[in-house]
Amino acid sequence: MLTLGIETSCDETGLSLVDNGQVIAETLASQVEIHSVFGGVVPELASREHLKVLPQLFEILLERSKCSPKDIEVIAVTRGPGLLASLLIGLGFAKGLALSLGKNLIGIDHLLAHLLVTDLEQNLEFPCLGLLVSGGHTHLYLIKSFFEFKLLGKTLDDAIGEAFDKVAKMLNLPYPGGVFIDKLAREGKVDKKMFPRPYIDNTNLDFSFSGIKTAVANYLAMHPEVIFPKAEENAILLANQDVKDMCASLIYALVESLKIKIRRALRLAKVKGLVVAGGVACNSVLRQELRILCEENNLKCWIPSPKLCTDNGIMIAYLGEIFAKAGFKHDLSLDAIPRGRT
Ligand code: KG4
Ligand code: ZN
Repeated sequence: MLTLGIETSCDETGLSLVDNGQVIAETLASQVEIHSVFGGVVPELASREHLKVLPQLFEILLERSKCSPKDIEVIAVTRGPGLLASLLIGLGFAKGLALSLGKNLIGIDHLLAHLLVTDLEQNLEFPCLGLLVSGGHTHLYLIKSFFEFKLLGKTLDDAIGEAFDKVAKMLNLPYPGGVFIDKLAREGKVDKKMFPRPYIDNTNLDFSFSGIKTAVANYLAMHPEVIFPKAEENAILLANQDVKDMCASLIYALVESLKIKIRRALRLAKVKGLVVAGGVACNSVLRQELRILCEENNLKCWIPSPKLCTDNGIMIAYLGEIFAKAGFKHDLSLDAIPRGRT
């Protein structure tokens, strides 16, 4: 069932065609360069850029796939969560196509798409735990099937990716900074006592990452020499050992707090494995540590390749086809849900 996926929830415009679970073609345009000068995503610029590039990307997608618009059977689009104006651009484009081609429209939850697209590369088994770690969300789910899931816990303030990006900004690293902190940490030595493991002295499955900024700010007040003079990508070539150790210790504290909550969830729910997705699932330490945690608990661990961890159109098309095959569809009144249902 040839399915078009449209992703415009934040600063990436992604289109893809998926048929019978196989990717036929994809296109992706990143806006990172546009927003990096502002140190974060500027919503108005993001939606204008989606509006500009969507028709061009659609043309490229058709060329790459050798498909004609008439061949498309289902149009799947992200309906949330995300930036409202950006979501509305994607929804408008999807509705126009659905109406003109006379094809079914289906709205997709961006967070579940992140997690469930893992099935494209590695067959997921249910029930499983799902950890979504991105720039906007940190959610822990019990996933019972492609269609049934329960939110077990979420961040009460900053998302884990936001914590990475805010610390990177304090260090004067370019936006988004998670990947730079990851690179620096690879040559660093962990000091387990440098930072507290955030929000673990409780019995719940929620997260909180805003406090870590204060801990980092206190560290930087004592060690101002680790702050980079200029927000340049190659600045990290000049990094000293202290900043590398700081980054390694920061990642240790953040990942430990995730591990503690996952272990807690495993005591409550009998599952076959853990699926981890979202941009922060690119982090090398997080990938390794969560794989070890699963091995210790005789569980499967599914983490997509880095390309599928960040925002893309494939995940929307992949889940869209599964939903369409199960008989789901929306009418043209489909609305955006910018803050999500959960
Ligand atoms: O899922 P995503 O592409 O966009 C959202 O939906 O938020 O996630 C982006 C987030 C950013 O905060 C970025 O800094 C973080 O993922 N990120 C990383 C790494 N690569 C991307 N964080 C830590 N280590 C990485 N290697
Ligand atoms: Zn995302």
